[in-house]
Amino acid sequence: MQSLIDAFREAGQGQVFAFLDRLGPTEQARLFAEAAEVDLAELAVLKRSLLGGTPVAAPADLEPAPYVPLPENGGDPERWRQAREVGEAALRAGRVAAFTVAGGQGTRLGFEGPKGTFPVTPVRQRPLFAVFADKLLAAERRYGRRVPWFILTSHQNHAATEAFFAQHRWFGLQADQVHFLRQGRMPAVDASGRILLETPGSLALSPDGHGGSLRALERAGAFDRMAALGADIISYFQVDNPLVRVIDPAFIGWHLLSGSEMSSKMVPKAFPEEKVGHFCRQRGRTCVIEYSDLALDRQRETDPATGRLRFLAGSIAIHLFSREFARRVARGEGGASLPFHRADKKIPTIDREGRPVQPLRPNGIKFELFVFDALPFAANPLVLETDRAGDFAPVKNAEGVDSPATCREAQLRLFAGWLRAVGATLPVDPSGLPLFPIEVSPLFGDDLVSLGESWARLDPKPAAVTPGFCLGHDS
Ligand code: UTP
Repeated sequence: MQSLIDAFREAGQGQVFAFLDRLGPTEQARLFAEAAEVDLAELAVLKRSLLGGTPVAAPADLEPAPYVPLPENGGDPERWRQAREVGEAALRAGRVAAFTVAGGQGTRLGFEGPKGTFPVTPVRQRPLFAVFADKLLAAERRYGRRVPWFILTSHQNHAATEAFFAQHRWFGLQADQVHFLRQGRMPAVDASGRILLETPGSLALSPDGHGGSLRALERAGAFDRMAALGADIISYFQVDNPLVRVIDPAFIGWHLLSGSEMSSKMVPKAFPEEKVGHFCRQRGRTCVIEYSDLALDRQRETDPATGRLRFLAGSIAIHLFSREFARRVARGEGGASLPFHRADKKIPTIDREGRPVQPLRPNGIKFELFVFDALPFAANPLVLETDRAGDFAPVKNAEGVDSPATCREAQLRLFAGWLRAVGATLPVDPSGLPLFPIEVSPLFGDDLVSLGESWARLDPKPAAVTPGFCLGHDS
């Protein structure tokens, strides 16, 4: 252990062991284990590149990225039909693995427990993880192939997540179909780059961002496991969005037809200041620029020809990766390594005497990787338009935008829209919101096509849609 202490001292991080004498053997062992997780060389690079200096402004040479529009917005219907067929063939060949990132801290929602356990559906109160499992089961029934599912957890929620799946018998999936992998952690530092302690015996560590998901796949041997299963396309989505088309044949088909190594879904921004990343082009490469990094006047620019926003394409964090591309990025091969971003935060820490400090203002810096930073390295990156109402309603905040309430309404509108499209009658308000709660399981239909097929087979059809109406739950 002396060598670890020496390495920290040499790196100017000796404060990490300042209270070592006060700790018992178990606490010391924990501190050493945490310290061993820290890549001091990486931290030294971050100190030089991200601390001090002036914040990097968004470059001026940004252009909006081109995207493929939906058929109803000018896209080629024949090409969309072809893409769906190609995607379905890939699914029948077992080429797709699902990947959920669920390692976040979910501080804004303030829900006790892993976010994936949050009860989200309007009638059955099915948790987010159950909704995704239902979608994977639906895909398995439709395409005749089991979809392997990789779930990124954090140190904090790993055990609770695994226990939740075991308790619910993997929601009808096979236990060996679901793979949990823990993401890495990064230490928080003060303004001069010194690692902060959370207690005298532990570092202030936090998850390394959703971009850390690719390194975690590599560390866990997940790419090899995918290869052994014949899966070469990774369907990446976040844990907080129950509407996400976990398995989307048209998206997969477009990805393959374009020869793309990374494809992303976009929605037109709902309003200029909407807090989403922007798909841009910079020096010939596609990238995502965070809302906080794009000046407001640029966010509000309009295209004189159409009157629409210039930077219209908002990122909703839904991506497809070719497996080998993701592996290259995870390994940083060929210069394809993700950059860290800094976030200034209030970080609970201790003072010189080891007493707890709860800061009222940001007192430290966290480092995070973002998964969309892989886009500039991808060959033939594709940005594809999707229908927000059918793909995106995240649960981020306890109240207001992107909250359980807005997510519930989005689900209700979607279910009601599908049912009405296939001929069911139910009362809705002018915004399409049904006047009472209903629910459609992904096992009955995951989009209008699959729902229409199930509905056509239903005999007899329900006489009326009544409050609490549910379709398609196995149990
Ligand atoms: P968010 O940016 O919404 O962060 O993550 P969060 O941690 O869930 O929530 P807040 O900001 O603390 O309220 C977007 C997605 O990325 C995952 C999250 O679990 C979520 O699915 N994520 C985020 C990770 O898997 N790891 C991370 O380190 C960060």
